[in-house]
Amino acid sequence: MAEQTTQHDQPTVGIIMNGVSGRMGYRQHLVRSILAIREQGGVLLADGVTRVQVEPILVGRSEAKLAELAAKHGIEHYTTNLDEALADDRWQIYADFLVTKARAKAIRKAIAAGKAIYTEKPTAESFEEALELARLAEEAGIKNGVVHDKLYLPGLQKLKRLIDSGFFGRILSVRGEFGYWVFEGDWQPAQRPSWNYRAEDGGGIIVDMFPHWNYVLENLFGRVESVYARAVTEIPERVDEKGHPYAATADDAAYAIFELEGGVIAQLNSSWTTRVNRDELVEFQVDGTLGSAVVGLFGCKIQPRNATPKPVWNPDLADAHDYDGDWIEVPTNDVFENGFKTQWEEFIRHVVEDAPNHYDFLAGARGVLLAEEGLRSSAEGRRIDLPVVTLEGGSTDAATASDAPAAPAAELTGAR
Ligand SMILES: NC(=O)c1ccc[n+]([C@@H]2O[C@H](COP(=O)([O-])OP(=O)(O)OC[C@H]3O[C@@H](n4cnc5c(N)ncnc54)[C@H](O)[C@@H]3O)[C@@H](O)[C@H]2O)c1
Repeated sequence: MAEQTTQHDQPTVGIIMNGVSGRMGYRQHLVRSILAIREQGGVLLADGVTRVQVEPILVGRSEAKLAELAAKHGIEHYTTNLDEALADDRWQIYADFLVTKARAKAIRKAIAAGKAIYTEKPTAESFEEALELARLAEEAGIKNGVVHDKLYLPGLQKLKRLIDSGFFGRILSVRGEFGYWVFEGDWQPAQRPSWNYRAEDGGGIIVDMFPHWNYVLENLFGRVESVYARAVTEIPERVDEKGHPYAATADDAAYAIFELEGGVIAQLNSSWTTRVNRDELVEFQVDGTLGSAVVGLFGCKIQPRNATPKPVWNPDLADAHDYDGDWIEVPTNDVFENGFKTQWEEFIRHVVEDAPNHYDFLAGARGVLLAEEGLRSSAEGRRIDLPVVTLEGGSTDAATASDAPAAPAAELTGAR
């Protein structure tokens, strides 16, 4: 892809940043990623010498907000007219951090404009639409990427290292706890946007978290082959940003079991209605024949087989053993940068020098499928098998419910 060059002949890639006034758009994508990349002089390419600089144009609905952000961060370009930005060759990448509901429409326009596209998850509100976006992007021959930020967390990177080293032996199971108390908004303002709690506005913890769980599980342990989930709305009424009560129509907690390729069982709780009694807001315990690990966003501790205590169940005696003390903290041994920024750098390298990118719209579609089938599992009260998703919509596995007759072929192929 042809890049712009600055007056100093430095190659520059122009990035349309849509939804930059939002929580994710502002903090993670603009400030912590693109501005941090600009500050460091650009993205270092494979030759180890060339740096591609980034030039953002902020896009949103409120000119005043955009002007304020642009002034605050010394950004030259902003507009409320997405179509104009898309029609302008100065901008090679379209990046989307809009509310989920608004995403697919904007991405379709960006595909039609031939831009490379980088987007927040979930890529669309339905699997059918997510798969269609993947197909359209493929047909248009445009590069596409979806945020997989959790994989870049220091804790998960350390976990990956343990897996690659063979530490676990045969991995048996994964148990994950994600969540914290999100205030209802009455006597203390909620710390998440209110649309998250309205199904009609694209909210819900399954839609929000299952796309993350899909890529975490498939990249670390194996493809998700089935899901059983129970979604609940624990707090039926909340108060929005303007102080108005509203009906919380979306699930705010989900309890799920995933069966993975190779036989690993993962059980993950996701909740905005739980109080934290862990070291971090997300924690996974992985148990294997040769050892176990507990990882969070940053931390990672292990217990190998040959340092495993031998508890004996005795309800008559208080157990004085310090189980926490049996674990060994894994050292960092590396510099882990903000994961959003690292993934942005990889995507920019994908765009300008064809570096590999596995986290594309098809990966995004698999995440949307897991969310959709998780909700279906909850509604129908049963385990649901997941097809292998391909761009063609083909499936090598039968997507059949465990206790139900085979689903019709159309249902397996994503042609729903
Ligand atoms: N990767 C992660 O860890 C992570 C975390 C939270 C949210 N997200 C995803 O990021 C996206 C944004 O979430 P957020 O928490 O930043 O939300 P937010 O409400 O803070 O921001 C949403 C943005 O979309 C804009 N917007 C809202 N309605 C719109 C419409 N109809 N048309 C055009 N623009 C509109 C808003 O002005 C704002 O800029 C969501 O898709 C969400 O799933 C990802």
